[in-house]
Amino acid sequence: MSQQIENILHENRRFSPSDAFRRASRMGDEAEYQAMYQCSIDDPDGFWGEVARELPWIRPFERVLDWSKAPVASWFDGGQLNASAVCLDQHADGERANKVAIHWEGEPGDARSFTYRELRMEVARFANVLKSRGIGKGDRVAIYMPMIPELAMAVLACARIGAIHSVVFGGFSAQALRDRIEDTGCNAVICADGGWRRGSVLPLKQEVDKSLEGIDHVHTVLVVRRTENEVEWNSERDVWLHEALESVSDSCVPEAMESEDVLFLLYTSGSTGKPKGIMHTTGGYMVGAYLSTRMVFDLQEDDVYWCTADVGWITGHSYIIYGPLANGATIVMYEGAPNAPAEDRFWDICERLGVTVFYTAPTAIRAFMKWGDEHVQKHDLSKLRLLGTVGEPINPEAWTWYHRVVGGERCPIVDTWWQTETGGIMLTPLPGCTDTKPGSATRPFFGVDACILNEEGQVLGPNQGGLLALRKPWPSMLRGIWGDEQRFKDTYWSKWPDGWTYFAGDGARQDEDGYFWVLGRVDDVINVSGHRLSTMEVESSLVAHEAVVEAAVVGRPDDLTGEAIVAFVTTLTGIDGNDDVRAALIEHVAEQIGKLARPQEIRFTDALPKTRSGKIMRRLLRDVAAGRESNQDMSTIEDAGVLERLRLTDGQK
Ligand code: WTA
Repeated sequence: MSQQIENILHENRRFSPSDAFRRASRMGDEAEYQAMYQCSIDDPDGFWGEVARELPWIRPFERVLDWSKAPVASWFDGGQLNASAVCLDQHADGERANKVAIHWEGEPGDARSFTYRELRMEVARFANVLKSRGIGKGDRVAIYMPMIPELAMAVLACARIGAIHSVVFGGFSAQALRDRIEDTGCNAVICADGGWRRGSVLPLKQEVDKSLEGIDHVHTVLVVRRTENEVEWNSERDVWLHEALESVSDSCVPEAMESEDVLFLLYTSGSTGKPKGIMHTTGGYMVGAYLSTRMVFDLQEDDVYWCTADVGWITGHSYIIYGPLANGATIVMYEGAPNAPAEDRFWDICERLGVTVFYTAPTAIRAFMKWGDEHVQKHDLSKLRLLGTVGEPINPEAWTWYHRVVGGERCPIVDTWWQTETGGIMLTPLPGCTDTKPGSATRPFFGVDACILNEEGQVLGPNQGGLLALRKPWPSMLRGIWGDEQRFKDTYWSKWPDGWTYFAGDGARQDEDGYFWVLGRVDDVINVSGHRLSTMEVESSLVAHEAVVEAAVVGRPDDLTGEAIVAFVTTLTGIDGNDDVRAALIEHVAEQIGKLARPQEIRFTDALPKTRSGKIMRRLLRDVAAGRESNQDMSTIEDAGVLERLRLTDGQK
């Protein structure tokens, strides 16, 4: 088998930040950036020590990094801090006391805002409720909530008392929640009666009740009243938050946590096996979240920053809560769907709240493209100055649309590559000094030693596709998988024999300028006639065609070529997927990439199966393409109906 992933898509456009942006930014000078990056690689202790000292430690650390027990790192040993104090108290007791921390908007249009001082008080009271139920340091608490302010408060309240939070995305089923509750052995669950989604109520409390049947280690279910739907009540276990809040004090001294005490668990699913409880600790995670938010989003004091992720994902942890609040930013939180009540909801929010920095996912950007420019254009987005994307490779087509239509050709785009496991952004432009190329996450962040290796661990040269690897520990790296050290070592640290090179599971290449192009998960690679092709590049080519909105490409076993390419394609509203379009698309891919990459089959579909975080589930499509029954884990699929409809549409050549 050929070791390299062939890369076939060439994107030559370059975008530079304007002089005005460059001058006003935190890092507008390439030479300064180079020097700082070099220092972060040559002297990580010096570099990270200096950054870490900008945080308010309760007790100073004695050592920056201990890597002697690799792959388990120890950062900032001897130091004590509290993540909620980093996010709240330093601002609430200082000049930002009356600055807005959170602007929140519910789907029905209700809104609430909290200054840093108000938010600290809410979190202290919430923490006191947890304490009154006997919850304390080291206890695990599952959080299963809609995107309401109480979600951020619950997270910060756990951090304040040293309880380990495990947020489970509110769109997960009772079974998925149950698996996670069992794995953590948590003794409390925080939820809401329900949440609003496209005008109807998600009955969250009901799901919690189902998930807890037969589980005896959960003694408390704390319920926030949001939708006022009827819920069943177990008076020994269930507590209304608003009632419990009546009898607690307004202040709560933050617990002094050791730097390496666990801050949270967050479950992530791979293509095989049960979900992994990724473990993040306090000091290193906070330092990483703090610096990356500041530099990647070029945070300025008067920014209104909106990351549209759900707090149920790592992006919400690091770039809604911990990073932005550690920097004293004003953040936006929105409860509902982007098309409720209409397709312009996000742009309406941006205009009304004066959003300046906007961070979202490629899947959302493709939906906006499909809905049409007019929804964006009817709003005044002139306050926007910086855009970001995360979650999957962004096709150049979607990138340029985002740049032109949302960013008015004025806003740099930061395409940020990272993972639940990395805790923070690893590959990214710095918006004031990095020239961007659509589809590339560009360069490593400070302290990140990224490279492309082959299976044997040799470093590959420019434009050779291989495996993305990280050769140095970084502060916000995962410290383990909850309860399964062996799996931690096997999954991330055993690809190469040294035992300390991190295997990200993604394929990538570096171009002649050293820019990284992430090609997707290595299990999303197709082998056609001995050539390993990235599904993402074929998809990008399809999406570049004017008729196509979204495409997913998978391999199907083929006697002749090893694997054949099957493409699932969604067309623009108003364009029928017919034989003419099919022929045109095949021709288009052949022209753009080469005959080798021509799909053997194209199936038109109104939607693609996705995880609840918006990632296309290619492993399910592989089964559909091969015409076999699927015995895959379906617990993360957003809309199972999509798959059924796909099975019914016959594949036509
Ligand atoms: C993919 C999300 C290309 C990648 C923060 C990674 C990306 C996985 C990008 C992690 C990007 C994330 N370009 N691919 N900018 N960002 N990915 O754990 O495959 O939900 O390994 O973390 O998403 O997904 P996770």
